[in-house]
Amino acid sequence: MNQTYDCLPTLNDTQVMEFCKNGFLMLDGVVSEDINQKTLEYVNEHPGGQPVEILLEDWFLDGVIKNPDAAGAVRSLLGKDFRLPNLMANHRVECPVEGQDWHRDGGSKFGPELQYLQVFYYPEVCPREMGPTELLPGSHFLFSTPGYMGHYGNIKDSYYAVASAGSIFLTIYNIWHRRSASTANGIRNNLKYNYWRTSLPERDWLVDPNFDLTNADWALGGSGIRDQFVDVVDAARMYTWLRGKSEFFNLIGGQGWPIGPHRHLGEAYGIPEGLELE
Ligand SMILES: [Fe+2]
Repeated sequence: MNQTYDCLPTLNDTQVMEFCKNGFLMLDGVVSEDINQKTLEYVNEHPGGQPVEILLEDWFLDGVIKNPDAAGAVRSLLGKDFRLPNLMANHRVECPVEGQDWHRDGGSKFGPELQYLQVFYYPEVCPREMGPTELLPGSHFLFSTPGYMGHYGNIKDSYYAVASAGSIFLTIYNIWHRRSASTANGIRNNLKYNYWRTSLPERDWLVDPNFDLTNADWALGGSGIRDQFVDVVDAARMYTWLRGKSEFFNLIGGQGWPIGPHRHLGEAYGIPEGLELE
């Protein structure tokens, strides 16, 4: 265990930007049905909350942890030779059950650095009736203590991670989330694990030469859980960090990059040094 892994990246600049903005990425139905079935057999035989020995099963490592779509996305965001999970949780509940309160998991670090990822795997279909994880897009930049967050109740523009069997979704660890209420009968399994960065950030995902820094849409949108433009600045700052250029991030204000009406004549002012050259 305690291995590192490398593979080909699968995300492009726009997808990396969207991840910085929203704080999560859903990969629907990427795990094969035979691996889903084996996983279900395993967790039915090991119904505890931390079935960590599943990480010793080669079929699980290859089919889930090193799944080409999931690991390719992790590789894009955490760089080469990322560290593989050494813990495994299963949020297994008997439905119907009430939803959880909003929370972020303990151990969260805030800021533009992306050093680790929290990842979830549904081995079976998870419709709304089975209480999918509810995520609040863009909340990975929002600090709040659990005691306050838990009182918020329904928040407009939340995202329900409704998904096909074999779906994996990647999240920025400190995103606000909760298990939503379920109404159907049955067992819901939701496996959760982390990956960590070992290499310095650089743009070694799928480089899109047409990615337009000036006109890229950094805004979270929605009904406004963030102050105007703060969402834009936070997402662009994280993207700049991932490019390995964070020391050049310099918010010049006004209509300078990354803020603006996206209709500049020519290149926006304030693009960090080195970003526009690659
Ligand atoms: Fe949680």
